[in-house]
Amino acid sequence: MNIVLLGPPGSGKGTQANILIRQRSMVQLSTGDMLREARRSGTEVGVKVAAIMDAGELVTDEIVIELIGERIGGKKGGGFIFDGFPRTLAQADSLEELLRQAGMKLDAAVEMEVGLKELQDRITGRVSCGQCGAVYHKVSSPPKVEGVCDNCGARELHQRDDDTIEVLNTRLLEYYRKTAPLVGYYHHAGLLRRVDCVGGPEEVANSVAKALDG
Ligand code: AP5
Repeated sequence: MNIVLLGPPGSGKGTQANILIRQRSMVQLSTGDMLREARRSGTEVGVKVAAIMDAGELVTDEIVIELIGERIGGKKGGGFIFDGFPRTLAQADSLEELLRQAGMKLDAAVEMEVGLKELQDRITGRVSCGQCGAVYHKVSSPPKVEGVCDNCGARELHQRDDDTIEVLNTRLLEYYRKTAPLVGYYHHAGLLRRVDCVGGPEEVANSVAKALDG
């Protein structure tokens, strides 16, 4: 099964992708993670996109389509989870074509619905490990030992540069202007599954599972 997780910043796409990896052996393709990795490694792409990401704007379609295209091969594990991709209609068309060329198709697009106040709380409370990328929340899912990553033991938990209220506003605007039209795109294709993402991660995971299997 190949699915898209569609939702505003902080709606829990990465969190749900991790649960789907654990439960269904799916393979996560997160363009946000790929771009952050490119930045850390100082690649040409990383240098080019750094300022755009910090401002909360979308990087160009060409860059992210190339990143995704490099990773779609034959069927892998329980299928692909596209996390944060596509974000524009051009990216959605490209994804359809890339999957078609690989002899695959998209099975569902999960729209993750969360209210504004909850998005703000989730984004401003998030900390990530600079070493392995594991994600925590200062209040709802803190690491077992303060400042230490449960996953790799590194003491590199930090707030992302784009996780401020100011940048979140730009990210939300980008989402509603450029990404929200994909809700109609996938509805028209008969692939849209709407999920109310209120409640803890496991509760939301149950709703996602129902939406995918029901
Ligand atoms: P990206 O990394 O994709 O950011 P995003 O879409 O803004 O999503 P986030 O990672 O902020 O949130 P999430 O939905 O994954 O939530 P999470 O699970 O972490 O993109 C970053 C930037 O890269 C973009 O702004 C753009 O510049 C560029 N980019 C990326 N892809 C692109 C593309 N395709 N085209 C163009 N540009 C692109 O959860 C958030 C917090 O909430 C965590 O602390 C978590 O612990 C907590 N949480 C999660 N679920 C729950 C729950 N149910 N209850 C309580 N807390 C929860």
